[in-house]
Amino acid sequence: MEVYYFTFTGTSKKIAEFIGKIFNIKPKEIKSYKLPYLLWLFLSFIPYLSLKAIFEPPTNDTVILCFPKWTFNCPPVTCFLKKIKCKKLVLIISYKGWGEKSYANLYKKLISKDVKKVTVILIKERVWKEIEKIIYKSD
Ligand SMILES: Cc1cc2nc3c(=O)[nH]c(=O)nc-3n(C[C@H](O)[C@H](O)[C@H](O)COP(=O)(O)O)c2cc1C
Repeated sequence: MEVYYFTFTGTSKKIAEFIGKIFNIKPKEIKSYKLPYLLWLFLSFIPYLSLKAIFEPPTNDTVILCFPKWTFNCPPVTCFLKKIKCKKLVLIISYKGWGEKSYANLYKKLISKDVKKVTVILIKERVWKEIEKIIYKSD
């Protein structure tokens, strides 16, 4: 199993690290351009746009991918999904509060037919922050 993440504000990284801890795996980052929020926001309105994703290729058939919900598209994640080959894929999508189901469906359609099983988990950012407080509470 391999854990990947793409993040803009850090939530997906923290979720990936949490999963990594459970399975004793070091999460791998998907790197892309360092663009300002407004430019990413503009690009996120273009469905299926694929932009620079730099990552260590997976060597395992099961991939867990943590990433944010971005309007209609997160271009580096789209690029990653077009490039990788695996048999089982788990998409963990962190979102603020709207449009997450249609976004998940868009991504399901994008995934190669060679992937035998796709699972989607949607995590509301606010809920994750509450879970984080419980997990990392220092008392
Ligand atoms: C360009 C952009 C577009 C976004 N669009 C949405 C959206 O349509 N719906 C939503 O619920 N959250 C949206 N968000 C908020 C993120 O999905 C949310 O804050 C997520 O938890 C951030 O994950 P990250 O910290 O890993 O980047 C957007 C954030 C960015 C930067």
